[in-house]
Amino acid sequence: MSEVHVHRVQPAWKKNALIDNDTYLKWYAESVKNPDKFWGKHGKRIDWFKPYSKVENTSFDGKVSIKWFEDGETNVSWNCIDRHLKKRGDQTAIIWEGDNPYDDRKVTYNELYAHVCRFANVLKKHGVKKGDRVTIYMPMIPEAAYAMLACTRLGAIHSVVFGGFSPDALAGRIDDCKSTFVITADEGLRGGKHVPLKENTDKAIEIAAKAGTKVEKVLVVRRTGGKINWVAGRDLWHHDEIATVKADCKPEKMKAEDPLFILYTSGSTGKPKGVLHTTAGYLVYVSMTHQYVFDYHDGDIYWCTADVGWVTGHSYIVYGPLANGATTLMFEGVPNYPSQSRFWEVIDKHKVNIFYTAPTALRALMGSGDAHVTKTSRKSLRVLGSVGEPINPEAWEWYFNVVGNGKVPIVDTWWQTETGGILITPLPGATNLKAGSATRPFFGVKPQLVDGDGKVLEGAADGNLCITDSWPGQMRTVYGDHDRFVQTYFSTYKGKYFTGDGCRRDEDGYYWITGRVDDVINVSGHRMGTAEVESALVSHDKVSEAAVVGYPHDIKGQGIYCYVTLMAGEASSEALRKELVDHVRKEIGAIATPDKIQFAPGLPKTRSGKIMRRILRKIAEDDFGALGDTSTLADPAVVDDLVANRQNKK
Ligand code: PRX
Repeated sequence: MSEVHVHRVQPAWKKNALIDNDTYLKWYAESVKNPDKFWGKHGKRIDWFKPYSKVENTSFDGKVSIKWFEDGETNVSWNCIDRHLKKRGDQTAIIWEGDNPYDDRKVTYNELYAHVCRFANVLKKHGVKKGDRVTIYMPMIPEAAYAMLACTRLGAIHSVVFGGFSPDALAGRIDDCKSTFVITADEGLRGGKHVPLKENTDKAIEIAAKAGTKVEKVLVVRRTGGKINWVAGRDLWHHDEIATVKADCKPEKMKAEDPLFILYTSGSTGKPKGVLHTTAGYLVYVSMTHQYVFDYHDGDIYWCTADVGWVTGHSYIVYGPLANGATTLMFEGVPNYPSQSRFWEVIDKHKVNIFYTAPTALRALMGSGDAHVTKTSRKSLRVLGSVGEPINPEAWEWYFNVVGNGKVPIVDTWWQTETGGILITPLPGATNLKAGSATRPFFGVKPQLVDGDGKVLEGAADGNLCITDSWPGQMRTVYGDHDRFVQTYFSTYKGKYFTGDGCRRDEDGYYWITGRVDDVINVSGHRMGTAEVESALVSHDKVSEAAVVGYPHDIKGQGIYCYVTLMAGEASSEALRKELVDHVRKEIGAIATPDKIQFAPGLPKTRSGKIMRRILRKIAEDDFGALGDTSTLADPAVVDDLVANRQNKK
């Protein structure tokens, strides 16, 4: 390993920081020694209708049960809006920056209140009530946030589906949680291109109906004015509906453990899982991490470039920042439209102080040259953040030196859909940085490294990352399938939450996430199960068998490499290759577009029929000199064919 460059906390980072290193060490020690006391204190950062008397009631053993602040009552939208009105009613809550740089708007907290209340009243008018599941399939416009907050106001459970997912993927998510109300827009707009959201919704509703879930109502926000199909009696225009209701709506009193939202995410097997988060613990955790990880101060302009369709958008565009009364920027577009300078221009335009993005975007922008960055000022920046995948040291140093001019700390935040909020991260005024390391655990988080047999590794070590105790933002269950929750996260290492990530701890106790150790791949920060891509491929009538692995990709982090065995009598061709790529895009969405397809007459299997993925990964990496032991294969000759026809020759 090359020498690690340590970037020490600079005096300017420490000057007004909320947390310095001594405070970090003190609070961390308290938080893990006496979690009840620590979280009992910090639970008060949100407002409660009824205060809690119990704090932590969790068990990672047996059936696994996770409850925080369980006898308290609160409401998320009330915390994100109402409580700020007195002090900051006229402060901007949301800055919206459109795909087109000449298109923007600002929404104050007073306006947010009215928008969300009207939205909630529309939902109510059409029968949505506490506990109902509402699917949100929206572009990055403020109405997406209004929709989410309106659900929380009523106690309805939202399931936001990323606008890049296909009708099939949307249908699966609608059907899994039996959601009969969908909120969408006519079209989305990204990089100048129109995304047919309503058309996709119409198709998804047909597919879901066949699976047994009938969507009753579709609320449509007008974004582009593009032509859409309309189903009378089912479809409702948002702008018509909000004109019929009042701008006040009483927030529902929710129990701390009442469900807040479902968010589908990929795992190593089967269909995507509905990760369920609940009300109070989630809000306490995301607001607290938003404040301390980004060293958020009153008046800061904060921008997270994620999409609300992912957990980062939920926790760090909407709920964390708004719970803190922050100004959160929501960006509809893409990093390279209309030019490669777009991010940095937006930062200058809105005087952004805190900027949070993904390594894949940084790598792509880095490749287009520094001039696109250096022609902008970026002098408002105070904290930079990274999330979603390991950041390679080169991209880290570029972010630090070019984007931040060597003066702005980078917080590399490690977490997951399941964790609700950030678990391992530097704090800007406290933590010396090492390029590529997520550094140290946040308050209350107890990481542990174990080897393949579950043996706990101490000191500097390389192993699998587990968390040994609960934190308030943790997921509570897989929606509708608690056994799958226990099986997926708590059975590999009994009594511990297993993250699925590999990790190294260095001699300073810093954590370096090395990537997934299961069959999950991370493509441009988007998490995907290889099993999902495989099942999309085998659903094509010419495909008999498929195996999918990730391989290192300069921009995307990982690329998608597919081995495909055709049905007897089918011939491989370039046309079929293209057909299969399109087929996967149709089944899942553009984010799952295969990078490489290799037609393979046979896959390497053990005598018991198990595909040896290790070998497939090596061939995909063009590292077949190190295939290891192939003697246990049923037919070792298939490997020669795979090597000869590999698609990734360096
Ligand atoms: O492998 C880790 C990677 O992303 C996975 C979680 O993906 P998802 O649930 O989609 O959430 C992404 C946004 C929180 C993790 O298991 N990951 C996330 N952040 C980092 C990371 N890997 C390395 N460093 C990070 N900062």
